[in-house]
Amino acid sequence: MALYSEKVMDHFRNPRNVGVLEDANGIGEVGNAKCGDIMKMYLKIEDDTIKDVKFETFGCGSAIASSSMATELIKGKPVSEARKLTNKAVAEALDGLPDYKMHCSVLAQEAIEAALKDYEENGKKD
Ligand code: FES
Repeated sequence: MALYSEKVMDHFRNPRNVGVLEDANGIGEVGNAKCGDIMKMYLKIEDDTIKDVKFETFGCGSAIASSSMATELIKGKPVSEARKLTNKAVAEALDGLPDYKMHCSVLAQEAIEAALKDYEENGKKD
């Protein structure tokens, strides 16, 4: 069996929602001290919905694929659903990650959590 699923390779080669969101109202940046990878998530939230999301990931292929898939999973969804996104759900949506690469999907979950926290603390205007 190949080490990485087709979906991981696809999201690594053609990542969705890459870049900076100029009008983001929730931004989260997290890193993994062991591997040194960094992930930044930008959220544009309106009416309690994730209207738009972009990411910048300085990291391994699994981290790029995980961030790409995570953005796809929360885009257009209510904030309450985005809050519940787990790294397991991201890995499952990618048809799995090798055990030693699961921490890459954790980074995606944490980046979204950090961006939602930023929104709650600084970006919310109601
Ligand atoms: Fe650290 Fe992938 S090796 S995020």
